[in-house]
Formats: sequence, structure tokens, C-alpha cells
Amino acid sequence: MYEDLFETLRGDHHDIKDSFQRLRLEKDPSERVKRLYELETKLLPHMIAEERTLYPALHEKEEARDDALEAAAEHNAVRLVLRDLAETPANEEIFSAKVKVLEEMVEHHVHEEESAIFDNVRRSLGSSEAAEILKRFRDEKVNTPCQPAEGKGWHGGY
Ligand SMILES: [Fe+2]
Ligand SMILES: [Fe+2]
Repeated sequence: MYEDLFETLRGDHHDIKDSFQRLRLEKDPSERVKRLYELETKLLPHMIAEERTLYPALHEKEEARDDALEAAAEHNAVRLVLRDLAETPANEEIFSAKVKVLEEMVEHHVHEEESAIFDNVRRSLGSSEAAEILKRFRDEKVNTPCQPAEGKGWHGGY
């Protein structure tokens, strides 16, 4: 049952990776804005759903708490860089560099999630709990508007 949850998360990560590639390869400024919006519509609901379901469940388990906090802190860092990118005119030379920085941050985060966080799920949560998280994760994604979740997401209490 863990695999259903992992497959859903991996599928989202794959879509996010594809969106980054499309954004990175796009050179036309007005198309870049569309590609950036497309990335946001994939990245933000995924992050918010993790913050409302998976991370709090892991935070409750003492042995998984540090990794859950680190993942939440990485989400916050991603939001800051994403906001900076969204405020950068798409015709500026530095736009591509900022895309690259954000992409590398997200790649690092995804790697940690698919290793340390998945290990924590297997170790600390029961399979029925994982199934429940998957159900709630899907519901949250459907119900989450594509907005930065300032003050709404789970930030590990800081
Ligand atoms: Fe994720
Ligand atoms: Fe995440």
C-alpha cells in the first residue's frame, strides 16, 4: 500500500520535472510567463498537499520529525525563490539563471523526499495510515487553488 502513495508522489515529481524542462528551454518572454504559470499550477498544489497531509503525519513521529521539518523548510525556500522568479521580467538575462537555481533546489528536495522521506513513511507509518494520507493528499490537491500558501501551509511550527 505504501507504493500507491509513492507512485502518486513520483508521478507529480515527474510532471514538475517536465514543466521545468519546458520553462528552461523556452526563450520567448511571453511564452516563458505561460510556462512559469504551468509550473506553479503543478508545484504549489503538490507542496501544499504534502504540507497538509504527509509532513504533519511524519512530524508526529519522533524519529521522522527532523526530516519532516527539513522538507517543510525546503518548501519555504522554494517559495521564496519562486516568488523572486515570478517578479523577474521574463526578458531579463538573469531569468534563465533563476530558473536554473529553482530547478536545482527542487531536484535536491525531490531526491531527499524519494529517499529519506519515503524511508520514514515505511518505518514510521502503518500501511493503512499511508493509504489515508494518499486519499487526503488527492483531495487537498483538487481543492487547493494555485496560490502561494502564505500562512496556510504547514511550516513545522516556525
Ligand atoms: Fe513532493
Ligand atoms: Fe515536497
